Parts: sequence; structure tokens; C-alpha cells
Amino acid sequence: MAVERTLSIIKPDAVAQNVIGEIYSRFERAGLQVVAARMTHLGREQAEGFYAVHRERPFFNALVEFMMSGPIMVQVLEGEDAIRKNREIMGATNPAEAEAGTIRHDYAESIDANAAHGSDSPETAATEIAFFFDSNDIHSRG
Ligand code: TYD
Repeated sequence: MAVERTLSIIKPDAVAQNVIGEIYSRFERAGLQVVAARMTHLGREQAEGFYAVHRERPFFNALVEFMMSGPIMVQVLEGEDAIRKNREIMGATNPAEAEAGTIRHDYAESIDANAAHGSDSPETAATEIAFFFDSNDIHSRG
């Protein structure tokens, strides 16, 4: 299985619950390394840009408002099968369907405030990582 990188976001609702460390522990226990990280608070242009693929969806405006509603923690996770592993740790998009022990089951309120983001393919991961980080700010440790 290939070593991959993926973009992870701890969304405003989870940051507000003070569970950044708790969520990082889940990544680390799954064998994923945090190789870049930064806290930021998105403006409208950034939030709309990040979720541009969803621009035509009915939930787009609410999603953008939610992502601007407080600080987020953004990180690059690296490890074998990192994209799939991170999405498994996050759980289903709708927390009502997320398995017990997943981030969304434990911390998300609703499908539109769902605690975490994870890239869904190698192509998306590359684009999303470049959206937030320069290659100089990513520190693989092997
Ligand atoms: P999506 O890419 O389908 O899910 P995921 O985050 O699991 O990859 O959707 C992106 C985000 O859009 C999702 O995390 C929350 C929001 N969203 C809604 O608010 N309502 C919805 O019905 C859907 C499908 C998504």
C-alpha cells in the first residue's frame, strides 16, 4: 500500500469543543503522521474557493457560512493508505450514519456541521494540500 498524503480539517464546531488533541490522537493511533499543521480562520473568498466543487449544491451557502464561523485546524496527514484511513476515522458525512468511535459520530451535530474534512482522492488531496500549504511547510519524517 502506497504512502499517501491527505488534507484534514478540524472544522469550527470541533475546534469549539476543544478536542484538537483528542482528534490528533486518533490520527496518530491509526499510524498517520501530522507533517504540516496550521490554525486559521477562513474568510468568505477562501471558504468559497475551498468548496468550489459544491458551488451549485443547495447547501453551499450554509456550508460556507459554517466554515467561516470560527477558527479551523488544518493539517496534512501522511502514512500508508492515508486518504482512506482518514475518511474511516472521520466516519460518514452524515453523523447519524457514522459508526461509533468515529470523529463525526462523537463530535458532529449534523450533516452541515460535521466536525471534520478529509480529501477523497489522491487528486483532491494534492489540490487541497496546495490550497493551504507551501511544499516547504510540509515535513515528512519517513
Ligand atoms: P461531501 O464532499 O459530500 O462529504 P465529505 O465531507 O464527507 O467528503 O460534502 C462536503 C461537505 O458539504 C460535507 O462535509 C458537509 C456539507 N454537506 C451538507 O451540508 N449537506 C449535504 O447534504 C451534503 C451532502 C454535504
